[in-house]
Parts: sequence; C-alpha cells; structure tokens
Amino acid sequence: MEKIEYTILEMINHLIKNHPEMRSSILELLKLDTSSQEAIPTFTSTANAIKSRNDLYKYMHNFFENECPKEIKMHRSYFNTESRGFGEDAFHAMWLMLLNEYKPKSCLEIGVYRGQIITLWGLIAKLKNIEIDIHGISPFSSSGDTNSTYLSNIDYYDDTINSVNFFGLPQPSFLRSLSTEPIAKAYIKSKSWDLIYIDGSHDYEVVLSDYTLSVENLSIGGILVMDDSSLYTDYEPHSASFAGHPGPSKVATERAMNELSFLGGVGHNNVFQKNYL
Ligand SMILES: C[S@@+](CC[C@H](N)C(=O)[O-])C[C@H]1O[C@@H](n2cnc3c(N)ncnc32)[C@H](O)[C@@H]1O
Repeated sequence: MEKIEYTILEMINHLIKNHPEMRSSILELLKLDTSSQEAIPTFTSTANAIKSRNDLYKYMHNFFENECPKEIKMHRSYFNTESRGFGEDAFHAMWLMLLNEYKPKSCLEIGVYRGQIITLWGLIAKLKNIEIDIHGISPFSSSGDTNSTYLSNIDYYDDTINSVNFFGLPQPSFLRSLSTEPIAKAYIKSKSWDLIYIDGSHDYEVVLSDYTLSVENLSIGGILVMDDSSLYTDYEPHSASFAGHPGPSKVATERAMNELSFLGGVGHNNVFQKNYL
C-alpha cells in the first residue's frame, strides 16, 4: 500500500509538470500549495501517506533530484563542496516542504556550523515569499562537538556571513555561544519560536537540555526538528546515509516521541509538532 501511495505522489508531480494547464484543478483536489510555479507537497500529507521511513527518505531524495527548484539544488551543491556542510540531499526536500507548509516566522537553529541550514531557510523564504526571522546559536568553532571532524583553518563566523551574502540573503541574528551557557538559555527563553532545529552537541545531557528548553519556548503548533536522532527507529540507512548518534536518538525516543506529535522522520531527522492545548 505504501509503495502505491509513493508511486501516486510521484505520478502527480509528473502530471502537473507535463500538464501545467491542469495544475490548479489538481492542486485544488489535493489541497496542495498553490502559491508557486512547481507543486510542493506538504510535509505532513507526504509523511502521512508514506509510513515507511525508508520509503519516505527515498521519496524525499527523489523529490530533491527531480522536483526541487534549481536554486535549492544549487544551494546543496554549494554546501557539498569544500566540506561546507553535513547532511544529505533528501533533507533539502524535507526543509522545502516543511517551510512551505508551516511558514514559520521565528526560527532558531542550535548548532550552525557553516550556515547550511540557516541559509537554506532564508533561500526558501525568499523563493516562497515567506516572512521569516532567522536566529542561530553556535560557538562558531569546533567546541562542544566530539563526534564530527572540523577544519582548523577557518573562521566559522566570517565564513557563515560570507555564505549568507553569497545567496543574497538578509543576515540572521547570531549568538556566539554554546546553548548550555546562561546567555544562550536566556536567548532561547526570550521569545516564542515557530521552528527550532536542534543540531548542536550530540551529548545526551546537552541534547536533553536543548530539547527541554526548546519545547518550553516553542509556540503552540510550533515545529521541532531533531537531527541525528533515528538510531533507535526502524530506519535502515544506505551506505551514504546515517541514522544518528545515541544522545539525540535517546532524547527523541524517550521524550519527544511521548511528549510531542510526531509528524515524520527523514533519515536521521525527526520532525515533531508542539501539541495544541
Ligand atoms: C553537526 S554541526 C551542525 C551542522 C549544521 N546544522 C548544518 O546542517 O550545516 C554541529 C554544530 O553545533 C555546534 N555545537 C556543538 N555544541 C553546541 C552547543 N552546545 N550549542 C550550540 N552549538 C553547538 C558545533 O560547533 C557545530 O557547529
């Protein structure tokens, strides 16, 4: 059944591409987004239709390959070169669908590295005319992460600013700190966030602290995305994919899965929504 739904979604995308004159009636029928040239399925309906994590990952990967706007593909190839970013192509499709569906205004990334995700958010907002206010908390150094390899000859802050400029985007607001510092905790508490992406430290205690504070300060209906958190799920990554680290996976399994609404998982990213009261 899941395979059939997956194929149907693929067929719909091709149908709209080949018969643009039928676009509005098809979208009306499917209740998809109508504000753009290309049909972008909502993340929620896609994840509802494709229950298997491996099939959803495959769908997102194929969507990236075949359906993503060229600007999004170009963004990914920019961050794929010179070790500018981590991640997998499928995640770009996930972010496009998520932002296009939920149009989050206040967005926070914990763990910015060289700015792949904050620039992707900015680019999607620009392409889709979404009003967005982007923030990032990160040390802009290799501190706080013992799991990943970092380049030593780079000023991560300047490098991120350069990439924001490269894509012609407004500068996000950055706090140069670890998320566990009092100043960063106060920053997270300073507003209600529509989207928080946790991708900083992979240590259990730190992820738990990021998670707790994030959930407390998410708006009702707000979205939480946890990176590297699918280790204890049935996701079976292929050789170029990665299921995650124990710390984030434990927090996602023990806390987020029980306390939030799970919308779907793409590879090692898990997407949750703070429940309406
Ligand atoms: C895996 S990288 C993030 C990659 C980035 N999200 C992307 O997709 O390109 C992890 C980042 O988190 C930062 N980091 C580690 N511990 C952190 C903490 N406690 N608070 C904020 N950032 C942290 C690291 O310095 C690094 O920049």
